[in-house]
Amino acid sequence: MRRLFPVLLALLLTCVAVPGQARAAGEVTYDEHSLMVDGRRIVLQSAEFHYFRLPSQELWEDVLEKFKAAGFNAVSLYFSWAYHSPRPGVYDFTGVRDVDRLLRTAERAGLYVIARPGPYINAESTGGGFPAWLKTVPGRARSFEAGYREAYREWLHRINPIIARHQVTEGGPVILYNAENEYQVNTDAAYMQDIQDQARADGIEVPITTNDCCDAGSWSSTWATGPGAVQIPGVDDYPQSFECANPELWGPWGEGLTEKLRDDIPVFAAEYQAGAIDLGNAGYERCRELTGPAFMKFFYKNNLMRTGATMFSYYMGYGGTNWGWLAQPNDVYTSYDYGAAITEARQLTPKYDEFKRQGLFLQAVTPLAKTGAVPSPATSGNAALTTVARANPDTGTQFVLVRHEDRAATSTDETILDWAAPDGRHQVPVQVKGRDAHVLVAGYDLGGQRLAVSSSEIMTHAAIGGRDVAVLYGTAGSPGATVLRYASRPTVKVLEGRVRVTYDEGDLRLDYAHEGLARVLVTGGGRRPLLLLIGTDETAAEFWRAETAAGPVLVRGTELVRSATSYGDTVRLAADTKAGPVEVFTPADRLRIGQDEIRVTRTPSGSLLGATRAPGQAHLPALTGWRAHAESPEAAPGFDDSRWTAADHTTTVSPHKPKTLPVLYADDYGFHYGNVWYRGHFTATGSETRVDLNAITGLRGNYLVWLNGRYLGSAAGGVQADSGDQATPPNPDPGPGRFDIPDGLLKAGAGNVLSVLVATTGHNDDWIADDLRFKQPRGLVAASVGDTPITWRIQGTAGTDRLRGPLSTGGLYGERTGWHLPTYPDKSWNSATGTLPPGVTWQRTSFRLDLPKGQDVPVGLRFGGDPSPAYRVLIFLNGWNIGQYGADIGPQREFSLPAGLLNEHGTNTLALAITAEQPTTGPGPLGLFAYGNVRSGR
Ligand code: GAL
Repeated sequence: MRRLFPVLLALLLTCVAVPGQARAAGEVTYDEHSLMVDGRRIVLQSAEFHYFRLPSQELWEDVLEKFKAAGFNAVSLYFSWAYHSPRPGVYDFTGVRDVDRLLRTAERAGLYVIARPGPYINAESTGGGFPAWLKTVPGRARSFEAGYREAYREWLHRINPIIARHQVTEGGPVILYNAENEYQVNTDAAYMQDIQDQARADGIEVPITTNDCCDAGSWSSTWATGPGAVQIPGVDDYPQSFECANPELWGPWGEGLTEKLRDDIPVFAAEYQAGAIDLGNAGYERCRELTGPAFMKFFYKNNLMRTGATMFSYYMGYGGTNWGWLAQPNDVYTSYDYGAAITEARQLTPKYDEFKRQGLFLQAVTPLAKTGAVPSPATSGNAALTTVARANPDTGTQFVLVRHEDRAATSTDETILDWAAPDGRHQVPVQVKGRDAHVLVAGYDLGGQRLAVSSSEIMTHAAIGGRDVAVLYGTAGSPGATVLRYASRPTVKVLEGRVRVTYDEGDLRLDYAHEGLARVLVTGGGRRPLLLLIGTDETAAEFWRAETAAGPVLVRGTELVRSATSYGDTVRLAADTKAGPVEVFTPADRLRIGQDEIRVTRTPSGSLLGATRAPGQAHLPALTGWRAHAESPEAAPGFDDSRWTAADHTTTVSPHKPKTLPVLYADDYGFHYGNVWYRGHFTATGSETRVDLNAITGLRGNYLVWLNGRYLGSAAGGVQADSGDQATPPNPDPGPGRFDIPDGLLKAGAGNVLSVLVATTGHNDDWIADDLRFKQPRGLVAASVGDTPITWRIQGTAGTDRLRGPLSTGGLYGERTGWHLPTYPDKSWNSATGTLPPGVTWQRTSFRLDLPKGQDVPVGLRFGGDPSPAYRVLIFLNGWNIGQYGADIGPQREFSLPAGLLNEHGTNTLALAITAEQPTTGPGPLGLFAYGNVRSGR
């Protein structure tokens, strides 16, 4: 295409980039200020998204369009090796793993992509993205050692070609390629270099980057220079920590100023905190508070202005779900909501509003892409406040940050800024609330206008119908002043609000307080007309901006605007709506939202005003008719395990040496995720008194033990900390369980059977590039009944579910037999009653849905009552393991049922696999609920 139609593409290049429109092939370069596409500077405003945490291709589009609407122009994507590869040499990129479709979706949404295929990704994902089979491969992971080397090259040669064909240089969205992840400890430069060499050999042409951990200055390898160096190293910053239980914290991990790692590259905030993992089980709403709008205003703006960074990627924009066995169990439970701007159920939060205010500003005010530090204006009369200034050397445009001197201050302070701006000296009032900050602009060609100075912030501006429309904003109640330059006195009409207007020698000065939404129309004065909309944080956040082939439109009052198109005298919005007024700034005369024609009138502001309809009620049925069936037949002595795998290895690749033989590590026998059964057969002498076991499950895991069919009890499995590290040897007794043998249970001189069900919960990460940690086994690590020899068989997941991938299904009897699947015939099961015996019991029900068409109603499953530590529950929706519930699992009571897995217009099956450690009543009552309800006009 590129070669065949150069003229057409040259034409395309001159067009405004409109979502959905094919981009022309471009060249990606950079200098010390910014990235450039075909020589055009861009401020990269990106947020992280994990497709593997949203197993629904149709919803990827929704989330990525929401990114775009918040002013992001890029998305950062980790690619999880574990998600695609059940075993060596086997890779699957179909269905929910179709990353080709993902990259096309990003392109359609109008986003650039930072592609991050690892091989190591961390991300609180199982094994840090490494498939568990890698634990059985010799050679230290994250090094150049043979074994690991062949394995990671295999992954790269599968994923790189997919990424390569979507690069900007091929007309696609991929603008950067990220090698490895926070690779700062136990490093191997040959490995770091080889990842890049493999990428280049696979056709990667865009700049290669990496994300250095946290505080680059404190690490020796930053990959900025020397062997293994990348083109544009970036730095990760998490200044708010992960203490969600204490959301009042303020930068316990520092100021969050992204370091410049080399003189010839832009400052790149490769991962900047935009949420948190919930280490202390406080719940993600607290994480959202910890990293809420105040944090975003202060830390993001402070970083922008003090470092001059022009490349940002916020972690996470949307977190998603650790469905199946995706979680790295030591740090996260099922939800990976992350307290992000967009919730797990795709709802927009006040954090989203703040991203939108900042993101639209970064996209609209282009001189920001190239700035240097300059002297800053004084804050006369108030020492509590301070300023930092930058200017674009080509345009002279100045940017001034106003914040508290003491970043932790909570007082509201005011000052008159004495600003020697490019167009003259001005005194403008500024008010700063505690833990807030403002970036003010002076000397700026705002469309056809000349902004001399303003103490309001700019959200966006657009040329619409032969005039400029600008949205400015400030804290509700604070004073503001805006000065514009004119050749002669213009005509000023205050259409709404209280604004004092003065004119003096070319300076039109507007003074006001930020209240509601003031509207000022300026005509004449030698410039095209200007409509100034001056709002508060809140009223500014009501605006959306979308580009059409006929120019931009601004929209106010909808829940979201995904895109807009114009044809003839009509503008058509793809927008989410509830009942209420909608206002559109457009030269068009007619308005459509989705398929609806909206009756509109023309306002004095020149905009179209109409109203949208309320979404229809969504009916969610009660969950009734539960049927139950006990399983765990493996506990019975007569169970036929002859087709199970013999567990008879005497050696292992794991650096953790077995305490008893044979080796019982589940991964060594090809069983990597979820529950694993063991059956040990022994001929008793009669003198045995105790069963001694030891298991490593990962945090939140446990194991249950039966002897000759009699339940002996349960124990907790060992955790990551038991792995030790270079300084500390591994814990010799990580997950002990000692079970006395009841009198009369043993059959002396005859066959006895020990049955053990181990609930493994996922694999350690490899943050420190240390095999002791990563290759910590899962399953039994020691087993003895006195000195009596035992022969073992093991059984886990029965093959990979082709539809749901390698991480959905574990090795429970019910999973091996399809009890979780919607097609399973459960008619013969009994009605569920209250009490559950130790072991596994399944409960199933089905329900019909018919959600209103053309609406987005995300549905959740809520567990009522209090969970008991006596059980843990695996939840399957239509066969997909969508999470785990229980008092020992995490604070989560609500589970997202994403459309795509959920049949919104038909029958759905819920199956619960409940593992009880002691007799207990089951969980519940369970119910469905809606997280939201909007009309989704596409
Ligand atoms: C970073 C890491 C990410 C993620 C994040 C915390 O250090 O690169 O993958 O783990 O921390 O959520």
